[in-house]
Amino acid sequence: MADRTLGIALHGAGWVAHAHAASWLKNPHAKIVSVSDVDRQRAQRFAEEFQLDCAVRDDFQQVLDDRQVEVVDITGPSHVHAPQGIAAAQAGKHLLVEKPMGLTLAENQALRDAVDRAGVKSLAGFVLRWNPAVETIKSLVASGTLGQLFYVEVDYWHRMKPAHHAWDLHSRKQTGGSAMLLGGCHAVDMLRWLTGDEAVEASAVSNNQRGLFEYAANVVALIRFRSGIIAKTSTLFDCEMPYAFNIDVAGTEGTVRDNRLWSKRLLPGQTGWMTIPTILPDSGDVQHHPFDAEINHLVDCILQDRPSHCNVADAYRSHELCLAIDRSLEEGGRPVTLPLA
Ligand SMILES: NC(=O)c1ccc[n+]([C@@H]2O[C@H](COP(=O)([O-])OP(=O)(O)OC[C@H]3O[C@@H](n4cnc5c(N)ncnc54)[C@H](O)[C@@H]3O)[C@@H](O)[C@H]2O)c1
Repeated sequence: MADRTLGIALHGAGWVAHAHAASWLKNPHAKIVSVSDVDRQRAQRFAEEFQLDCAVRDDFQQVLDDRQVEVVDITGPSHVHAPQGIAAAQAGKHLLVEKPMGLTLAENQALRDAVDRAGVKSLAGFVLRWNPAVETIKSLVASGTLGQLFYVEVDYWHRMKPAHHAWDLHSRKQTGGSAMLLGGCHAVDMLRWLTGDEAVEASAVSNNQRGLFEYAANVVALIRFRSGIIAKTSTLFDCEMPYAFNIDVAGTEGTVRDNRLWSKRLLPGQTGWMTIPTILPDSGDVQHHPFDAEINHLVDCILQDRPSHCNVADAYRSHELCLAIDRSLEEGGRPVTLPLA
């Protein structure tokens, strides 16, 4: 690997940026050279908190003009991700863009195309791909321990209340998008990541039990994949329970239910579920998310000049599936065919 240090700019000095910064600081090939936010005082406090020796700004153009900046980490609110990501790519910067990348199909396409044209490396914020339980399930699928997959179910159940720190942004359609784009995208991305397959059809129903959001807070979708795998995903913002991210994967030779394994191929004498000691994706706290591994992966991709499996082009497909689910909701649950474009 090229032995050099990448200059990192964090743009948007809020909650998730704190977790990103802690991970950037642990990587020996990264140096935070710029922190910016529309609120310069927030950026200043952020730099002081992490004792950063870096530029502090409220002007994104200055970030893009800074030759020391090689990677822009976009951590502001969801509705600004796509335009900022496009500008960063056009300025020749590598990109880490938090999810959701964009709130419309056109925005997601424009970001994907801008990154492609610029030839920069990119990573979208589907950080749960690096969760240890997910890495374990992915390995079990790849090794054939479960046989041929035919059903996958991933749910994102996360009670969201007005006390949430970003409630005004997240609860509105224009800035939060939808339940699928805001939170359910992690579960939708997990369906694609674990199956290695692309959806061809999605249909969904929803309700808005507490009436707190501008969009439907609770969604359940049925999905058919190209290979014939069928899937279910749900997002519940109105649930009354601790955060849960359920993963069920069923194949012809075995089944995984979160950290429990049944496999007649691997464990022919099995008489009960085997529990795998691991770390489950069972917290919505960004401190629990595996940002160290995600950021190390992006740095490796840049220094080794190879694309990420979670780049903007790949993540486009997860966003497209979220938008297909939303389209089905708008059309009364009618099945929507993919690809949308
Ligand atoms: N990958 C994950 O698991 C994960 C977890 C949490 C949040 N997120 C995503 O990260 C994003 C930020 O969420 P958060 O909880 O940190 O929000 P936050 O409100 O804590 O922070 C957002 C920051 O962006 C700043 N900001 C506002 N407008 C801006 C602009 N135009 N340009 C730059 N900065 C701007 C705000 O002043 C604030 O400091 C959201 O899109 C959210 O979906 C992802």
